[in-house]
Amino acid sequence: MVTDQGLRGIFPPSPETVESAIVNNRDVLARMADQDLQRFWEDQAKEFVWFEPWTKVLDESNPPFYKWFVGGVTNIVYNCLDRHVQSWRRNKLALIWESESGEQRTFSYHALSREVCMFANVLRSMGVRKGDRVTIYMGRIPELPIAMLACAKIGAVHSVVYGGFSVEALHGRIEDSRSNVVITCDGSFMNGKIVELKAIVDEALKRCATVEHVIVVKRTGQPVVMENGRDYWYTELMNLPIARTASGASRCETEEMDAEDPLFMLYTSGTTGKPKAILHTHGGYMVGVATTLKWVFDIKEEDRYWCTADPGWITGHSYIVYGPLLLGTTSFMYEGAPTYPYPNRWWSLIEKYGINIFYTAPTAIRGLMRFGEAWPNRHDLSSLRLLGSVGEPINPEAWRWYYEVIGKSRCPIMDTWWQTETGMFMITPMPETPLKPGSASKPFPGIEAQVVDENGKAVAAGEEGYLVLKRPWPAMLRTIYNDPDRYVNQYWARFPGMYFTGDSARRDEDGYFWIIGRVDDVIKVSGYRLGTAEIESALVSHPTVAEAAAIGLPHDIKGNAIYAYVILRSGVEPYEGLPDELRAHVGHEMGPIARPEKITIVNQLPKTRSGKIMRRVLKARAQDLPEGDLTTLEE
Ligand code: PRX
Repeated sequence: MVTDQGLRGIFPPSPETVESAIVNNRDVLARMADQDLQRFWEDQAKEFVWFEPWTKVLDESNPPFYKWFVGGVTNIVYNCLDRHVQSWRRNKLALIWESESGEQRTFSYHALSREVCMFANVLRSMGVRKGDRVTIYMGRIPELPIAMLACAKIGAVHSVVYGGFSVEALHGRIEDSRSNVVITCDGSFMNGKIVELKAIVDEALKRCATVEHVIVVKRTGQPVVMENGRDYWYTELMNLPIARTASGASRCETEEMDAEDPLFMLYTSGTTGKPKAILHTHGGYMVGVATTLKWVFDIKEEDRYWCTADPGWITGHSYIVYGPLLLGTTSFMYEGAPTYPYPNRWWSLIEKYGINIFYTAPTAIRGLMRFGEAWPNRHDLSSLRLLGSVGEPINPEAWRWYYEVIGKSRCPIMDTWWQTETGMFMITPMPETPLKPGSASKPFPGIEAQVVDENGKAVAAGEEGYLVLKRPWPAMLRTIYNDPDRYVNQYWARFPGMYFTGDSARRDEDGYFWIIGRVDDVIKVSGYRLGTAEIESALVSHPTVAEAAAIGLPHDIKGNAIYAYVILRSGVEPYEGLPDELRAHVGHEMGPIARPEKITIVNQLPKTRSGKIMRRVLKARAQDLPEGDLTTLEE
């Protein structure tokens, strides 16, 4: 049994874990990378097919616009699908999918590649070309990764918008990316209910004009409006000759891409109301994501791997879609809610499919913990070998439950710290690393992380400070789409020469990193990243609201919950039901995850003399904590 004493201590790996792990010389690898970073990553890049080799591993001539594998030509999809189809892996399962209602679909590498080829042909026939942006807004069904891969195969840049977002969030992302094509579903299932995705797309498109075509996968079957000449059913397109080559084959040439050509953009929240599109590329991203997945989750040929994230977030991009396919892995994907119809759904799926590696988020563990041990204990979870955690710090109670009840004190927990921007794991254990619950342990080989003070000077062990990264890495973001200045200002200006993560952390005497949380205006709700400014701008778009402030307050299951304060427009009298109406409005504009827990109508907000809302004062007041330095406050 784990005691509290033990939780504060160190959990060494079992000798069998170390012996069988792909990497059992982490320190040696770290030293090699320190000595020659370029050679270290070059060795990993050689695992992949390149149509042309690179001439330079890392171009540092124009920081922070780093380039990796300069001159190299490849396509990540060639390495995810084409090369496996040409090998014995052709008939290996790439994807096993189960719907919320229990329906099952499987795809071998051959079958997945065939579907991707046909859909890529469809996109090409609709005029989608290399460099064009395509917005994907779907539920968690196989056609979501198929759409992503089809775009990448022909060199188009996908922008996946999480299916839990709603009208304004979707509209802003379609418009900013200037997508011509949107791929969606009629609806998606979540908790037995239908989310009407196509209706949300229709409403979003009324607010923007760039989109020429909408491709709709039929999933739920409820009636939807199909606009003539704009909207097409996926299945109908796939049955047309356009889905095949001139000779009728279900094949499609993979576009040759420069290593630095964009692969996808993914919007994430930052300090302003306008979400930023993080841009990732074909070459470096491929090398970084595959290497980290292989070494940290110790993926072996025969493994079955399940990452419970949604493909609409970076975890899904890197570690549901691209990483596992690059390694030729069999992945499992589940459509719906973990508690549907009962709180044992995930545990029953682990048993049913014999999952070996299971990667989820602390918020999900906390959510399932409250239903008690009896639910997982009804299932044989002995197939599990490794567990993973991501998205926020994992608290000791959740760690203990995950380790003991799910992993039966046998499976190490890989607490992976990383970001949309980093593309790949940055601070993480490997199976051989002794674990300290709540710590993401040490930087991945080749990654230099440091905790610094206001002036960018390293702080002493045990002291809290800002988490920065000091050397480029291959899967790093290249820029913010269409906004290189914002890229420089957001990440590289605060501490010159260092990438600022936006997190605070401390490093202990053993060199282990303990992430504390965000220090900017980002709130992590159930592991989802939301910007206070986005929530505020959704509130202000309501006709009764003049000003709004959103803050995150601690929540037992979600990690943080959103609380908002609004000032009404002059002449508007508060009426009963208005706070609920405003909550619903945020849900409609942004999506259910952004809906505030509570909205309070106020007459004034704490502001600095220059007019900036002091959210930290609101936070302190809400929690009855000391308000701190108030010299700049003008109320
Ligand atoms: O605050 C950190 C937290 O999530 C942020 C990144 O969010 P996002 O871009 O949405 O990516 C999430 C999935 C990679 C980080 O700045 N975070 C992520 N992983 C951890 C974490 N905090 C503590 N421990 C982690 N393992």
